[in-house]
Amino acid sequence: MPVTIKSAREIELMRAAGKILGKVHQDLGKALKPGMTTLEIDRIGEEMIRSFGCIPSFKNYNGYPASVCVSVNDEVVHGIPTAKRTIQEGDIVSLDIGVIYKGYHSDAARTHGIGEISENAKQLIQRTRECFFAGIQYAVAGNHLHQMSAAINDYADKFGYGVVRDLVGHGIGSHLHEDPEIPNFRKLTRGIRLRPGMTLAVEPMINEGTAHVDWLDDDWTVVTRDGKLSAHYENTILITNGRPEILSITEDEIAEGIWIPEEKA
Ligand code: MF3
Ligand code: CO
Repeated sequence: MPVTIKSAREIELMRAAGKILGKVHQDLGKALKPGMTTLEIDRIGEEMIRSFGCIPSFKNYNGYPASVCVSVNDEVVHGIPTAKRTIQEGDIVSLDIGVIYKGYHSDAARTHGIGEISENAKQLIQRTRECFFAGIQYAVAGNHLHQMSAAINDYADKFGYGVVRDLVGHGIGSHLHEDPEIPNFRKLTRGIRLRPGMTLAVEPMINEGTAHVDWLDDDWTVVTRDGKLSAHYENTILITNGRPEILSITEDEIAEGIWIPEEKA
């Protein structure tokens, strides 16, 4: 499938989808409390998505049964919400959410600490987020896709982290998953040339220990092979001639200072 270039109208819809998704992440992140079940998190998340007039992208996607992927501690991604699992003080919880607004998807993930978490866990979460920002420095029209992949890989390597290779980011638009695939690791090829109007979901999945992962018997949940922690950070971005526009980030996150938008640069 060719990589699509979005029209002005499509970009407007993806901006709207991203804005809603940013808000859902912000609100759901704040709602996390020790003792909640992962199913409750999904129910609250789905309610929020629908309250904004959106449809959850993940629900029934290839048979995935929920709206929010909830992945705890050594779970990397695609954890299935269940009434049997409660989150506890000290856990790290990755929430991956997709929304559809008027036919257009936005996809983003955040990892949260529950109450007091270990210093290692805090660093992993923070540095996984930084991997994303290290990568998107290269997400400029005219550059090649795998420059971004290499930058993510290099940043994670500084800390001896394992970069997950079995799952990748992706193009996004009227479909949740479009071309191109976006690896978070160095490639021998340079990848496609980036053009204005491409919309991409960039999503480093970073492990405290080994990069190797396994799938649980539910055929969804991806876990680290060594049982160590994993974090995930994802946004939907728009390629421009300057700095990319991060469609699924909130004003509050920008105010934290990790990203200077083009208009303020
Ligand atoms: N962000 C993930 C991805 O891009 C979420 C997909 S979960 C699924 O693959 F259930 F929809 F598959
Ligand atoms: Co994604």
